[in-house]
Amino acid sequence: MLRLGHRPHRDQRITTHVMLAARAFGARGALYTGVRDTSMERSVRGVVENWGGPFELRYVESWRRAIGDWRRWGGKVIHLTMYGLPVQGVIDEIRADPSPKLIVVGGAKVPGELYGEADWNVAVTNQPHSEVSALAVFLHILFKGRELELEFEDAKLRVIPQERGKRVERLA
Ligand SMILES: C[S@@+](CC[C@H](N)C(=O)[O-])C[C@H]1O[C@@H](n2cnc3c(N)ncnc32)[C@H](O)[C@@H]1O
Repeated sequence: MLRLGHRPHRDQRITTHVMLAARAFGARGALYTGVRDTSMERSVRGVVENWGGPFELRYVESWRRAIGDWRRWGGKVIHLTMYGLPVQGVIDEIRADPSPKLIVVGGAKVPGELYGEADWNVAVTNQPHSEVSALAVFLHILFKGRELELEFEDAKLRVIPQERGKRVERLA
């Protein structure tokens, strides 16, 4: 997944939530552009350290270069935008394509050229909401709900689900 245009302080919470949603719903890693934010990186890596992976996080200066590199490597690009084609109409075509997928979500501003660069511009409803909800719902549809059963590797902590209350098991 690629998150565009991170602004430290203003976006710290929402970018962290985009990353955590990406990890929890089955993405293998994340890139972000904008301004490098080591404090946001630390909080995401802290979650991976405690709750498992794999999930890599990396800052990149240029979204164009990140997309270019992804393509050269044989991957395709899905841009989530309220202006795109409804997810329910394109998901079969996306699933049928075997190449690795880079899912791009915007921030406060989205560069216009991205609409032309993406292999698919996909809307999760044509209503405005958020990068966190768009990404989570998209991954949930893409993986047909199987991501709900994901086991994370090398976790130190694991929740023991309870009808009431909180129980966490320490594994290492
Ligand atoms: C809060 S929106 C702001 C978008 C920005 N105003 C623009 O120029 O389009 C941030 C991101 O959330 C995602 N998003 C919001 N609503 C969406 C929707 N209905 N479908 C897909 N993605 C959506 C998009 O990735 C978008 O770039």
